[in-house]
Amino acid sequence: MSKNISIGLLGCGQVGTGLVKLLNQQRDFIERRTGLKLVIKHTLVRNPADKRAVKAPGLTKDINRILGDDSIDIVVELIGGLDPARAYIIKSLKAGKDVVTANKAVLAHHGREIFEAARLVNRQVYYEAAVCAGIPVIRSIKEGLLANHINLLMGILNGTTNYILTRMSEEKLSLADALKQAQQLGFAEPDPTSDVSGADTANKLCVLAALSFGIKVAPKDIYTEGIMGIELEDIKNADEFGYCIKLLAIAREVAHNKVELKVHPTMIPKKHPLAAVRNEFNALYLHGSAVGDMMFYGRGAGPLPTASAILADIIELGNQPAFVPTPCVGTTPDVHRGAYNWGDKKILPMAETVSEHYLRFPIIDKPGVIGKLATLLGRHNISIYGATAALVPTKKQLGNVRILTRPAKESQLKQALSEINRLAIMRGKATVIRIEE
Ligand code: HSE
Repeated sequence: MSKNISIGLLGCGQVGTGLVKLLNQQRDFIERRTGLKLVIKHTLVRNPADKRAVKAPGLTKDINRILGDDSIDIVVELIGGLDPARAYIIKSLKAGKDVVTANKAVLAHHGREIFEAARLVNRQVYYEAAVCAGIPVIRSIKEGLLANHINLLMGILNGTTNYILTRMSEEKLSLADALKQAQQLGFAEPDPTSDVSGADTANKLCVLAALSFGIKVAPKDIYTEGIMGIELEDIKNADEFGYCIKLLAIAREVAHNKVELKVHPTMIPKKHPLAAVRNEFNALYLHGSAVGDMMFYGRGAGPLPTASAILADIIELGNQPAFVPTPCVGTTPDVHRGAYNWGDKKILPMAETVSEHYLRFPIIDKPGVIGKLATLLGRHNISIYGATAALVPTKKQLGNVRILTRPAKESQLKQALSEINRLAIMRGKATVIRIEE
């Protein structure tokens, strides 16, 4: 006999519509495979009278219809953003419902509060769709890789920016034209700020880092640099040096209690597995103590891939025993409750991180320019392993010096660049792109 699972859906935008569609399509199949009959009972929307692409059941604009309905087992939060998503998630937990959310922003900013609220009332929060959407990275880290000590995560976690960088690299489009193309094809939002600024990637890194390293982290703790400073010139130079440029989220354990967390455009060798991740695709590359290197690849956005992850969470929650004794602190390990497992690791300040760098200096072409740059870098303990120069074809006497450095401390590089940027030979600010081998 099947078990009924009643769902309260919060939000019916693109992802909510995808969820309703996928559920309608797969309901019988899921029931046959899992013994669960999934039913959306209420759908919270701003205006129930609006035209929609799907018939969402039980349209209401009153959250209390869902919170006050004791037959609802799971609330699926697809409103996005911080408020009222945070309040609705916490109220749903307090009303005795488990929660599934695709909302990386609310987890990154309020994850601690949300998981603590869930723990206190013995409910669960599942969030597979929040990172890499259709690729089951959360479940893999939470369950499949439990026996591993994970010491490195490197991810292409944002499809919009990966699409833009790929088009720049493959079609030699400017950033503005690649962004326009991404918007026309629906890969970028009309307002792409949270994608191109790296904020969306930083939110996702918060979620991954909390889960993998047990670290207490908020987006403000993560050094975040977006892609708006990347010029076609740098994409071409990277190619010439044997690299490509990707917006990476990086979490690396640098000592037993210290983790480096950062989001920035990164040059990676063309032979690196992440270099093959093109267009709107996402990937997460990690290193586990037992499994070694591993990479997950697939669609990190879009209504159906996101709905696929949400349905998997609903099914997993639906399959759990109906009754877990309270209080269950200590009886059910946090990792199975979907919660993060807070540890005592600290975040390495960005100034102390060490990296190889690609530097591009727009200069006036005259004798001794490269010497001046090299001397100043050397004075700050920055060693060079490659340097080339090229004139800007249409601009008389203007050129670019491109330098690759050996590993250098961020603070030392910053100091050197602030001095170099003031030199009379400079015709603009230096461009810096960090390198991961
Ligand atoms: N806007 C995101 C992206 C998807 O481009 O990958 C939602 O996180």
